[in-house]
Amino acid sequence: MVKAVAVITISDTCFKDHSQDTSGPTLANLARKIYPEANIHTLIIPDEKELIERELKYYCDSNVELVLTTGGTGLAHRDVTPEATKAIIQKEVPALTTAITLESLKKTPMAMLSRSVAGIRDKTLIINFPGSKKAVLECFEVVRPVLSHAIALLQ
Ligand code: MTE
Repeated sequence: MVKAVAVITISDTCFKDHSQDTSGPTLANLARKIYPEANIHTLIIPDEKELIERELKYYCDSNVELVLTTGGTGLAHRDVTPEATKAIIQKEVPALTTAITLESLKKTPMAMLSRSVAGIRDKTLIINFPGSKKAVLECFEVVRPVLSHAIALLQ
């Protein structure tokens, strides 16, 4: 059983004005639907690599089974979510993001502009999602069928 999920919104804009965050609440709702018993932690932080690393480590060390991030995966200078994720994971799970990209390309060529990473730190699965509600809805649908099995393998 999944006991805890963390949803981290990574965005300078949303950090300044929490009402701008639509992808974080969307991701939290999607997680709540499949893990109704789980504690869903939510957090909004700016695009600062060290801060992102610290928060990712914190949730992994707190025995959260699944960490979903949204935002900061693109090409802008401040977009460092993939770099922060790579810095703290022990293994990458590249097929998760490959599958997301392949499905997303059927919806928009802009999917080429996401550098999302998925990986494992200890017993926690981390998946980066882009920073829009539309993208989160489309991308979550792709990984949903494998999430529970992936998490179970890590425990
Ligand atoms: N993937 C899907 N499925 N749907 C989308 O609308 N938007 C793209 C892409 N991935 C999108 C998507 C866009 S416009 C960008 S710029 C990149 O994700 C990176 O987004 P981010 O910088 O907010 O993380």
